[in-house]
Amino acid sequence: MTETDPSGDALKEFDAAIRTDHMVGQWTFEPILEAATGGPTPRGTGHVWPWKTARARLAEASKTLGPAGVGRCNLTFLNPGITQGPPGSTHTIAAGVQIMRAHEVCWSHRHTMSALRFVIEGNAEAFTVVDGEPLTMDRFDLLLTPRFSWHDHHNPTDEEVVWLDVLDLGLTLGLNQAFYEPFGEASQPQHPSAAESQGLRAASLRPVWERPRQERLPIRYPWADVVKTLAAYGDTVGDPYDGLALRYANPVTGGPTLPTMDCWVQQLAPGFEGLSHRRTSSSVGFVVSGHGRVEVGDDTWEIGPGDTFAIPNYAWHRLSNPDDAAAEPLRIFSVHDIPALTAFGLFYEEPVRAVAAHSAPAVPGIPHKPYYRNDAMLAQGETR
Ligand SMILES: [Fe+2]
Repeated sequence: MTETDPSGDALKEFDAAIRTDHMVGQWTFEPILEAATGGPTPRGTGHVWPWKTARARLAEASKTLGPAGVGRCNLTFLNPGITQGPPGSTHTIAAGVQIMRAHEVCWSHRHTMSALRFVIEGNAEAFTVVDGEPLTMDRFDLLLTPRFSWHDHHNPTDEEVVWLDVLDLGLTLGLNQAFYEPFGEASQPQHPSAAESQGLRAASLRPVWERPRQERLPIRYPWADVVKTLAAYGDTVGDPYDGLALRYANPVTGGPTLPTMDCWVQQLAPGFEGLSHRRTSSSVGFVVSGHGRVEVGDDTWEIGPGDTFAIPNYAWHRLSNPDDAAAEPLRIFSVHDIPALTAFGLFYEEPVRAVAAHSAPAVPGIPHKPYYRNDAMLAQGETR
């Protein structure tokens, strides 16, 4: 027996003794290091929340809560494999569905959790106000509520409005960085003119008299623009793993959608069989249209319109649209915690082929700087 043999009685006594001084010997961390050999164990499991169930439960919640549910009629999707820590669909991302009843105003507040809304049932008259800017909530529009921006939702119509609500809840709570503040009134003041909007300032034509704001932009990405862009790509298959996957870029910097989360739209052509891969990031996907299949580890789910699915971090997974007879592309909106990991130098994927590692076409000779590439985390034995 050596002096550091963990089975030694003297060491066990010492370990117990220093606990009373709130210390621990690093020699006891061996199990943590062993568990991390080969990378992290995925936190949580793959899971699908079918639209039919989610929508029905949302209607029940609305009825059960009654008027008391104003601004809070939201169901968060819980990953069945995450039993400790903040509630969430993955360990960093909490997705769910929220309903705003006819003629409802969801009271104004702000928090350090960054949030986004992908409208499922919307219309051109419903809107969310973000830092004074009204953003239309039409069907499949994406609206950003960056960290600590005031937001309230308005539904002046007779129809219900439903959206996919996504926050970096697990990340922010895990770092113990939650700040919350109610505005104190149902609605915040709105800019008197659309000319004040950051969306307009971030467009192709920008005011020459001011420097554009780069962060905390209240931005709406209309679905109509997404459809036009997807159409412009024509038959492009895109990436062998993710298909025709496009990032919702920060319109000023071209960087991530939000500092902690990136949003993608993916289009998988009929017959597309994505290759299996895994990333240190986790994600939540929402089926906009079409049908297909998601595989996470040994589990497989058939997915269709309105279904939401979770892919935990570092879990092998693949997406496919195997039914080429249907001739309908599978369109998915998804949210990834890649920017948070990239900021810490922790983003890595297997096979080693960082996202955006491919050069854009037809610009020979211009060095390509991959957006996500993390040279600090090469696979064992890889030289580059
Ligand atoms: Fe909020």
